[in-house]
Amino acid sequence: MAQIKHFFVLSILLAIIFSSFNALIVTAQVGVCYGQGGNNLPPPSKSIQYLQKLNAASVKIYDADSNILNALKGTNLTISIMVKNEILANISSNQNISDQWVQTNVLPFYPQTKITTVLVGNEILSPWNKQYWFYLVPAMKAIYQSLKNFRLHSAIKVSTPLSMDCLESSISRPSNGTFRSDISKVMKPLVHFLNSSKSSFFVDIYPYFEWVMKPGSISLDYALLSAKSASFKDPVSGLSYANIVDQMLDSLVFAMTKLGYPNVSFSIAETGWPNGGDYDDIGASIYNAATYNRNLVKKFTAKPPLGTPARPGVSIPVNIFALYNENQKPGPGIERHFGLLYPNGTNVYDIDLSGGTPDWTYNPLPQPTNNEPYKGKIWCVVSKGAKWSQLQSAVDTICGQDNSTCAAIQPGGSCYKPNWFLLHASYAFSSYWARYRNNGTTCFFNGLAVETTKDPSYMSCQFPSVNL
Ligand SMILES: *[C@@H]1O[C@H](CO)[C@@H](O)[C@H](O)[C@H]1NC(C)=O
Ligand SMILES: *[C@@H]1O[C@H](CO)[C@@H](O)[C@H](O)[C@H]1NC(C)=O
Ligand SMILES: *[C@@H]1O[C@H](CO)[C@@H](O)[C@H](O)[C@H]1NC(C)=O
Ligand SMILES: *[C@@H]1O[C@H](CO)[C@@H](O)[C@H](O)[C@H]1NC(C)=O
Ligand SMILES: *[C@@H]1O[C@H](CO)[C@@H](O)[C@H](O)[C@H]1NC(C)=O
Ligand SMILES: *[C@@H]1O[C@H](CO)[C@@H](O)[C@H](O)[C@H]1NC(C)=O
Ligand SMILES: *[C@@H]1O[C@H](CO)[C@@H](O)[C@H](O)[C@H]1NC(C)=O
Ligand SMILES: *[C@@H]1O[C@H](CO)[C@@H](O)[C@H](O)[C@H]1NC(C)=O
Ligand SMILES: *[C@@H]1O[C@H](CO)[C@@H](O)[C@H](O)[C@H]1NC(C)=O
Repeated sequence: MAQIKHFFVLSILLAIIFSSFNALIVTAQVGVCYGQGGNNLPPPSKSIQYLQKLNAASVKIYDADSNILNALKGTNLTISIMVKNEILANISSNQNISDQWVQTNVLPFYPQTKITTVLVGNEILSPWNKQYWFYLVPAMKAIYQSLKNFRLHSAIKVSTPLSMDCLESSISRPSNGTFRSDISKVMKPLVHFLNSSKSSFFVDIYPYFEWVMKPGSISLDYALLSAKSASFKDPVSGLSYANIVDQMLDSLVFAMTKLGYPNVSFSIAETGWPNGGDYDDIGASIYNAATYNRNLVKKFTAKPPLGTPARPGVSIPVNIFALYNENQKPGPGIERHFGLLYPNGTNVYDIDLSGGTPDWTYNPLPQPTNNEPYKGKIWCVVSKGAKWSQLQSAVDTICGQDNSTCAAIQPGGSCYKPNWFLLHASYAFSSYWARYRNNGTTCFFNGLAVETTKDPSYMSCQFPSVNL
């Protein structure tokens, strides 16, 4: 017993020595995306303390919130701020508006707040943001000019984060990387601007979605950055890949090279893995999220830098999405489960973004139970915290769209009695969701509804279900 105890103490000492040694030689460059899509999140000052506790090197925010920027004053965190999509047209059309934006959102904070990047818009070149496409590069140039007017253009870079949907080609063969042809009139000037202003190509990378969308074709280990050796060789480039992140980055390298810009550097604006979700979200678990993000930290804090097969040895900054689980994000359950922290500030799992803590010192993780698709019936019912004041109008909307959805809860219908509003509301959610799930409706309804595997049917009332 005593020996075991000694061994334990020794292990801890070794861990401490090891981690402080590592902290000296590792260049911390993993940061966090600080999203605010929750109604239960701690204030900025507290959030900055959490970022520091995680050993984040940087933080990316989705606006230029003065409360957050003030809270970041005097810290060593480097910061990316964002120009909102909605004002791109105005910024691009008038240098004064752009100057004013920089005057309001940068000058009062810099240099006490280490702003290093202004990101102009968010995922602008995705198909649903078409109305902004042609404002993008002019707006970036305007912001660059404004920074130049204030002599900040060397210290603060201008870029824009794109989603992987900027590629037309599948990432399954990186050497075939090609940007979408419908955005070619924007892509070339964009990459030219990044190259000539020595800025970086910012990209949002989600191996989770690649893995989910191509069932069976990508192994989980390959997506989680856990594979020990290369399992795919690009037949044209001859480069070998051991993980999907490298495949995604190199697809972009080849696409930029085709445009004539082989040397534009990368920054991973967002990446992450959901720690939970709905019954129909597979592979979203604390275990997988911890595995992915810990592997990511190891990969991107390695000394010397690992780079990618096409760009070995190159250092790539990365921001993990996100600081918190954000309970107001719409869409499937995974969207509300990307956090490193719960809203109360507790870690969802242990992680040290500096890369200085070895995995074996972390607390054990719960084993994943949903790496295989869920099989069975699911219903969609009123959630625990649902506000009654909002339920009525949600039910009215649902039932108003298609009168057959709620026929069973009308007088005389099989679910009319007992005439309890909560039962009727749950019926309406289940009925609507079962019908429109394939049209992209999720069981969320602004937080009023949640999935369940427990059949809410009673007596002669059958709730419509989704069969997985
Ligand atoms: C910031 O970094 C500098 C240099 O590494 C260090 O001396 C200083 O203590 C750090 N400040 C904070 C608030 O962490
Ligand atoms: C853009 O500028 C116009 C004219 O100055 C103004 O009316 C409008 O509110 C601005 N739009 C935004 C989103 O700021
Ligand atoms: C920009 O501001 C300057 C000086 O304040 C003014 O002379 C000029 O007319 C403005 N230009 C536009 C397009 O608003
Ligand atoms: C290469 O990408 C193009 C789209 O840009 C696609 O049509 C073609 O099938 C791809 N070829 C291979 C071998 O993946
Ligand atoms: C990219 O930038 C480098 C360094 O400024 C420059 O030498 C090169 O000509 C640029 N490439 C293109 C295609 O403009
Ligand atoms: C890209 O960088 C390499 C190595 O620094 C250099 O040899 C090459 O000329 C650069 N290419 C362009 C187009 O700038
Ligand atoms: C924080 O929230 C999580 C998730 O709701 C919970 O499991 C945990 O116990 C909470 N921690 C504290 C200290 O309240
Ligand atoms: C639903 O609406 C259609 C057309 O508006 C109408 O013919 C039908 O009777 C309605 N059904 C119920 C159950 O109210
Ligand atoms: C749902 O999807 C089907 C098939 O794609 C389509 O025909 C229908 O119009 C859609 N309904 C709604 C309400 O979007």
